[in-house]
Amino acid sequence: MKIYKASAPSNIAFLKYWGKQDEKLQWPSNNSLSMTLNECQTFTTACVQNSLKSFSFKKEGENEQEDSFSLKVIKHLEFLKKKYQFPSFLEVSTYNNFPTASGVASSASGFAALTLVAIAAWTESSSFEELEGKGFSRETLAQLARLGSGSAGRSLFGGYVVWKKGTSPEEQRVKSFLPKSHWDLADTIVILSQEEKDLSSREAHKRVPTSPLFSLRVSGLREREMLFSQALEKKDMKSLGELLETEALEIHFILMTATEPFSYLKENTLEFLSWLRNLRRETHLEVYFTIDAGANVHVICELSKREKFLFYFRRDFPKTPFLLDAVGDGPKLFVTEE
Ligand code: PMV
Repeated sequence: MKIYKASAPSNIAFLKYWGKQDEKLQWPSNNSLSMTLNECQTFTTACVQNSLKSFSFKKEGENEQEDSFSLKVIKHLEFLKKKYQFPSFLEVSTYNNFPTASGVASSASGFAALTLVAIAAWTESSSFEELEGKGFSRETLAQLARLGSGSAGRSLFGGYVVWKKGTSPEEQRVKSFLPKSHWDLADTIVILSQEEKDLSSREAHKRVPTSPLFSLRVSGLREREMLFSQALEKKDMKSLGELLETEALEIHFILMTATEPFSYLKENTLEFLSWLRNLRRETHLEVYFTIDAGANVHVICELSKREKFLFYFRRDFPKTPFLLDAVGDGPKLFVTEE
């Protein structure tokens, strides 16, 4: 029996997907731009089981469960099976090599790995080339993964990735913007809260358009995207860093001013942000923050500057856990015979 195995990395958005213009079609309110990570990965295996009458899905080392993530996974598999009329059900298991409560987007890596491995198993493909030959290019796989979790589409590519919304839902595209080799950026994920987040990103996407700041944000994003692209192309850390921080604070302020307001930022998150800005002022070390839908902070700097950052960080936050990550290559696919 052939067992298909895929690994897919998480990604950190620089320009963030925040709000949906069409919820059912997962059409985002704006373009987004991300860096694919290297270390935080989801590993998923799938095999075709002709005897099964429904999908079997479990997290490795656990029994099958009916938690919200497992239900979303089954729904996604059912959607793929129906769309392409695949005859068989699959047995699927998955694990993350990073703590799910760390604020690292596990749904991005999770749905990227799931989509890749399920389509590979159904089409008996052992490489991206084979998948492409059967009509499943990386771009197509990204389109499918996006339907499970928007940001998952971006995890199908390595390096720096854009998700363009286009002028209609059919026109949206996820594609590579710059390769990993273009710029060695590091992401140090500072874990300030180990708690599961109180508000899902799905719910946050629904709430943000009700903020009076939302339309202002959307109208300024063309310009910001251009500046982000230029900063990345020119490897201009100062410009990139300033854009990262404005973008991160803006998405959080928008949620805080929605009609049903919510804040992911905890007191210690804000304290950490002041500490980081202070460090920058005092040492001129080019380290900047960004924050996704959670309380933890991603510290972005050039890889060559990380050791210096870690020196100050360990000195001032000796008990705070962190994960070391950096720009990475994108997903992988393997097949074994058992
Ligand atoms: O993919 P979702 O629905 O979990 O939304 C992701 C939202 C952010 O992480 C905050 C931004 C992004 O672009 O990844």
